[in-house]
Order: sequence, then C-alpha cells, then structure tokens
Amino acid sequence: MAKVHVFDHPLIQHKLTFIRDVNTGTKEFRELVDEVATLMAFEITRELPLQEVDVETPVCMAKSNVLAGKKLGIVPILRAGIGMVDGILKLIPAARVGHVGLFRDPETLQPHEYFVKLPSDVSERELIVVDPMLATGGTAVEAVNSLKKRGAKHIKFMCLIAAPEGVKVFTDAHPDVDVYIAALDEKLNDHGYIVPGLGDAGDRLFGTK
Ligand code: URA
Repeated sequence: MAKVHVFDHPLIQHKLTFIRDVNTGTKEFRELVDEVATLMAFEITRELPLQEVDVETPVCMAKSNVLAGKKLGIVPILRAGIGMVDGILKLIPAARVGHVGLFRDPETLQPHEYFVKLPSDVSERELIVVDPMLATGGTAVEAVNSLKKRGAKHIKFMCLIAAPEGVKVFTDAHPDVDVYIAALDEKLNDHGYIVPGLGDAGDRLFGTK
C-alpha cells in the first residue's frame, strides 16, 4: 500500500501560508513555490541509498559516502507542475526532466494525454512526478498511467496541497507510488477546488486568469 508523507517542516509550513494568501502576487507566489519545492526535494531524497567510497583528504585516506543506485527524473504535470521543477533541480541538478500534458474531455470529463516526452532510460530512473495540487486525483492517476505505459517502474508523487478525496483515488489506483505532500487540506468544493487550498495554481504561477 502506498505511504502518504506530510512534510511538517516549519519552513515548509511557514512558506505555504504565504502561498495560500490571496494577497500574494505572481512574482512572490512563484518564488515561494520554488523554495518549497527545494525544501520538499531535500525531504524526499532523505532515504536515497548511499555507497561507501575511498576519498583522499588533505590529511589522509578516508571512507566516505556518495549517492548510489538509480538516477533521478522529474516529471511535471503541465502546466502548474513546471513551477516546482527549478526548485528541485537546485538540489538535484543532474536529474533529467520529462513532461506529461493532459486535457479533460469536455463530455466524459476523463483526462487524456496530449503530450508526453520522457528520458529514454525512464525504466531505470527513480521518477518524481510533480503537480502543486492533488484535487480529484484524476489527472495524477492518468499521468502515472502514462509513465507506467512507457516502462517507468519507480515513481513518487509530490504536491504542495492534497484533498483527502484525491489522495484516496490516487493511492487506490497506484498503491506502489508513495505520495509526498506539504499539507493535507479539508475537502474539495463543488467546482473541484481544494478547500482552503490556494486557488488555481497554474493561474497564480503564470499570472493568467
Ligand atoms: N487545481 C488547482 O489549481 N487548484 C485546486 O484547488 C484544484 C485543482
């Protein structure tokens, strides 16, 4: 069963308050999302495996650790996921970046992919799928389906704010994918917005309406 991790680090919680604030403008919103993504990347990489190597210091030979195992990939869900990519790359600059774009069929309301571009060695990478909001869960489920269809095997999902409804839909569909969030909010409203949430993450990041 998937694990759901809520990052309660005080810096993440502090910055999230200003991200939620309706009076925070586009520039500051973008900067804060970037900063929180960096802090979340620090937490999400906490359990990466290490391997011991020999290193020559100015004083003597020593045993020390470097990252071992799989290479990383970041996959933002278009478009709001893009706002979290640079913040993660600050800590993991060699990560590859794939993209998944989905649209909602106006009749069936089901998400369908319109753009998928991934690193060629996707099956060997540890992927972090990012989207600021996990609302109904439909888009996140379909995005991970798109990755699995193309061979991805090791996936984590990271978002700023999740609704309980979305967490259930997502973890039921992908019990092998752990979820990392900064806040688990109260509910979805009738328009599919997370309450209290932060409004439309894409519009607030890119200054659109
Ligand atoms: N997407 C958003 O940007 N905000 C929500 O509250 C729900 C989905």
